[in-house]
Amino acid sequence: MTLYLNGLYLPIEEAKISVLDRGFIFGDGVYEVIPVYSRRAFRLTAHLQRLQRSLEGIRLANPHNITEWTAIFDKLIADSASEDSYLYLHITRGVAPRDQPFPNPSVAPTVLVMCNPLSRPPAELLTSGVCAVTAQDNRWLRCDIKAISLLPNVLLRQMAVDAGCSETVLIRDDAFLTEGSASNIFVVKNGTLLAPPKDNLMLPGITYDVILEIAAAHAIPHEVRKIAKTEVFDADELLLTSSPREVLAITRLDGKPIGTAEPGPMFKRLYQLYQEFKRDVMRAP
Ligand code: PDD
Repeated sequence: MTLYLNGLYLPIEEAKISVLDRGFIFGDGVYEVIPVYSRRAFRLTAHLQRLQRSLEGIRLANPHNITEWTAIFDKLIADSASEDSYLYLHITRGVAPRDQPFPNPSVAPTVLVMCNPLSRPPAELLTSGVCAVTAQDNRWLRCDIKAISLLPNVLLRQMAVDAGCSETVLIRDDAFLTEGSASNIFVVKNGTLLAPPKDNLMLPGITYDVILEIAAAHAIPHEVRKIAKTEVFDADELLLTSSPREVLAITRLDGKPIGTAEPGPMFKRLYQLYQEFKRDVMRAP
């Protein structure tokens, strides 16, 4: 597999970075995950805008303009063996002696881009749904930055895996829903789709936007507002969304059934509409 590292296109085995890279030492960097359908990057502008906001959030200059990013993506997508894939972008503050403040004078950032095959969620997850656990959201107060320092998410996600589940649903201050360890979470109650508002406590998901746009376009009742912890447990349905997992139903939470413990009508409708949107819009030339 060929990847892009600091201006070079290299086989993955030949791609090397310094042990003093600030991404390796401090987790000092940001990333993006961009799905590619039929060799077309989906919502590229939105992903690059989110990258820009993440870079501003950590006070790092964007190493490339849109034309340069697009040229890198086009080459990697063309070289990919897969029609559907995802671009992984990873930018760190570069290589410098180990010291917390920003290097002064600044150094060149480290820029890595990979294009990996995108596999659809297995069919049985669509029919049975997935189970999840809840945990206290103990991450920092800038979860809107797509930071590479993901240790809190890693530990939270492992709690789900240890329980034989797929995702950890995060509750902040023992009071309200934020998101999943690697996804956004929607609650369904009495036919209304509820979404937590985008703020500093959650990643503004691109799939989250797509789901709300689909709901608006098809007159599906929806509300964006703070969601209490009790509403999560009392939900008729719970949904998770992310670029690789699209939309999935969470049918068990902390070992207890959500609704009928089967993917419900809102999931089925949104899943169907998402597939149509993928076929008609995401794959469109
Ligand atoms: N993560 N919230 C968190 C904490 C995430 O890590 C992700 C995605 C999302 C969903 O964002 P989007 O719809 O733009 O994929 C929400 C990616 C896929 C990852 O870390 O691999």
